[in-house]
Amino acid sequence: MPRASVVGAGMTEFGPHDKTLSELFAEAALPAMADAGVERGDVDALFVGNTLGGTTENDTHLGPKLASHVGLAGVPTQRFEDACATSSNAFKHAVRAVESGPHDVVLVGGVERCTPETGLDTPEMTKAFVSAADRQYEQPAGITFPGVFGLLTKRHMHEYGTTEEQLARVAVKNHANGTLNPRAHFGKETDVESVLDSPLVADPFRLMDCCPFSDGASAVVVASEAFADSFDAPVDVTGIGHATDIVPIADKERLTATHSAREAASQAYEEAEIGADDVDFCELHDCFTGAEVLATEALGFFADGEGGPAAEAGRTELDGEIPINPSGGLKAKGHPIGATGTAQIVELTEQIRGEVGSRQVPEATTGLAHNLGGDTATTLVTVMEART
Ligand code: COA
Repeated sequence: MPRASVVGAGMTEFGPHDKTLSELFAEAALPAMADAGVERGDVDALFVGNTLGGTTENDTHLGPKLASHVGLAGVPTQRFEDACATSSNAFKHAVRAVESGPHDVVLVGGVERCTPETGLDTPEMTKAFVSAADRQYEQPAGITFPGVFGLLTKRHMHEYGTTEEQLARVAVKNHANGTLNPRAHFGKETDVESVLDSPLVADPFRLMDCCPFSDGASAVVVASEAFADSFDAPVDVTGIGHATDIVPIADKERLTATHSAREAASQAYEEAEIGADDVDFCELHDCFTGAEVLATEALGFFADGEGGPAAEAGRTELDGEIPINPSGGLKAKGHPIGATGTAQIVELTEQIRGEVGSRQVPEATTGLAHNLGGDTATTLVTVMEART
């Protein structure tokens, strides 16, 4: 099958913004098009991810609205919603659309507003997010997403002896990486003591184990292989996996195994014809520190139970054997949910092009993105490689 490539990338700073969804999206989409050097007439379609526009701004039917705002009125559009994995799913469909022929160039991105700038405070936004959790049993029981991942992580601690200090090391690393990313929500370092002293949110997670609520947008231009040949530095999409998991937590087979991530990773590695050892760096879904530990195991970087000790030993740091979340991840870069997936693709693209300055992973030619939605219900894994 012919490959698709990313030929342009753009994103806003993540953090509080007082702009509308349309205004924010334009601030990512227009730079992505400029980076690619494509004119409006070159773009065949717009795919966009957004989850909460109806709740935060009474703003739905975003495809044609965002197309109008960036001068693309007339092209076919599609809006995707998959909780926190929203724009990775939009990206997958853009890639498949150019690989299979209908389009040569697709603009794809995500946009979300989650901070109190929306008028919704932390309890109200927590409730809005929880619409992605099981409606029948878990929502009535008062589940929250810190609670969901707290349960999975508690089980990991029980099975493998993972410690709060090991979790804190994930936060320390991602905050350190975030200081090197001018678009990150938080540009401040932290240390293990400060993480362990921060207020408890949902056992075992403290405030500093959690990602924040962020506003932001991200976008990339996906082009078919033939079209991408005319660009300076196309970054090829060589594998994508997409899988789901049983939703009620009580029905999951193994809480610590993240079935959807293991299946999506296996599909992506198979399509790319690589293994975990071939990956030079990874952007993964660290919505909570424990989620990063579980993901490093599900993706095959470490054996089950080794994720915590590996974080503690510095194996996932920028100069470690497998740098995880050089951007700062969701923890420090921020998590405007519908924009997170394509923001990971932006980081993969810019790392592989060698454009990220002091957080550059040396010789980064193969990157992997892992984006999860809901209570591990949906996972997309994407492999991208430098054109050889
Ligand atoms: N990490 C680091 N610092 C954070 C933070 C976070 N996640 N969230 C807030 N802060 C900081 C704020 O900047 C502020 O700092 P300041 O006092 O220096 O200005 C301080 O902590 C208090 O911020 P506030 O907004 O009042 O915190 P809060 O108690 O309302 O919310 C959380 C904190 C952790 C409860 C909230 O960010 C949260 O629920 N995060 C998880 C979001 C989520 O579930 N996402 C879905 C993942 S699947």
